[in-house]
Amino acid sequence: MSTLFPNAQEAYFGPDAEGFYGPYGGRFVPETVMPALIELTAAYKEAREDEAFAAELTDLYVNYVGRETPLYSAKRLAEAVGLGRVLLKREDLCHTGAHKINNTLGQCLLAKRMGKKRVIAETGAGQHGVATATTAALMGLECAVFMGVEDIRRQSLNVYKMRLLGAEVIPVDEGSGTLANAVTAALRHWVERVEDTFYVLGSAVGPHPYPLMVRDFQSVIGNEIIAQLAEKNIGHVDAVCACVGGGSNAIGTFYPFVSAGAQFADTELVGAEAAGKGLDTGETGASLTLGSPGIMHGFYSYLLQDEAGNPLEAYSISAGLDYPGVGPEHAFFKDEGFVRYEPVSDTEALKAFELLTLTEGIIPAIESSHALALLPGLAEKYGPQATVVVTLSGRGDKDIDIVREAGLGGE
Ligand SMILES: Cc1ncc(COP(=O)(O)O)c(C=O)c1O
Repeated sequence: MSTLFPNAQEAYFGPDAEGFYGPYGGRFVPETVMPALIELTAAYKEAREDEAFAAELTDLYVNYVGRETPLYSAKRLAEAVGLGRVLLKREDLCHTGAHKINNTLGQCLLAKRMGKKRVIAETGAGQHGVATATTAALMGLECAVFMGVEDIRRQSLNVYKMRLLGAEVIPVDEGSGTLANAVTAALRHWVERVEDTFYVLGSAVGPHPYPLMVRDFQSVIGNEIIAQLAEKNIGHVDAVCACVGGGSNAIGTFYPFVSAGAQFADTELVGAEAAGKGLDTGETGASLTLGSPGIMHGFYSYLLQDEAGNPLEAYSISAGLDYPGVGPEHAFFKDEGFVRYEPVSDTEALKAFELLTLTEGIIPAIESSHALALLPGLAEKYGPQATVVVTLSGRGDKDIDIVREAGLGGE
């Protein structure tokens, strides 16, 4: 049994030994990558059952990241959207400003355990790149981060931070120069340097065992929420929300609720994916709403794809949500009806960004603002007494130029 993840077995079984969640997931990779994935799967299985690994990671979560993060009751926000209680899971208060570090610490500890001296990562918004560069500095690992040229333009502050932290940022100018292209470039590079290099994947995507590892490391979010609800004597929650790019903060939020089984059977889980400029504009990242099952980046899941199965370019105002696919466990949760996934447009996200900023003095990431944008709809559905939890996946400092360009704050 896992020592790290106390809830992680009963009600829902998770992936099978080959990494399939129902029909989704798996390992669809060239033969050259297979040995590395098999080695990684074995190393992770061992680490997952090792109390010393769990203790080291927990110590870093507490003393380095600043966990547990608060479950904050946002009273003025609740009043503004017409809900009884809105509880914000403050992942924006994690060291480096987002949930991404929960995962990079776990994967880099594993890299060290496997004797690797060098890590690589892909990044979209730059948060995963910064978290990986931070963790590499902490653990004395060499670090290179692949980033699309469009994201380099949109997220220049994070690019500079990664360089300050000693990482090499490698620009990727293929395709739209965004996250999907960065993942492709990182995977290609990993094949060439697999002997000494560990690929730290930043979301719950990619070939097995990545979606499982990322889910496990991010499940600290949902496990803490459940414990904090009990501490606050909150017996019933109407809905729990998170934004979905590749799906790591959302799976870390939802999985403990799903695996808790009957206890939360009447709590609705809602994922907000990026509708971008609108579902019918062709400029969208809504892979669960508009996509169909296919293969990309070594796994089978819902994808925005053309008739030949080539991934389409995804678009969102937020660099962390413009991925044309989604983690395979989300695809499974959608089909099973465990989670409802709702598209949220750029405009709705910006409105929610502004509302949280003005009512609570908390500037959220635009990614997280997509989850906040679900609140008015949930108020309509569940009424003015309802309690809703939202995972606030990150802070908005990195997005200031974008919201300024969009005309917020009177500029
Ligand atoms: C703050 C923040 N939230 C959410 C995301 C989306 O990623 P995921 O769906 O893996 O949580 C990102 C990605 O960069 C991010 O930076």
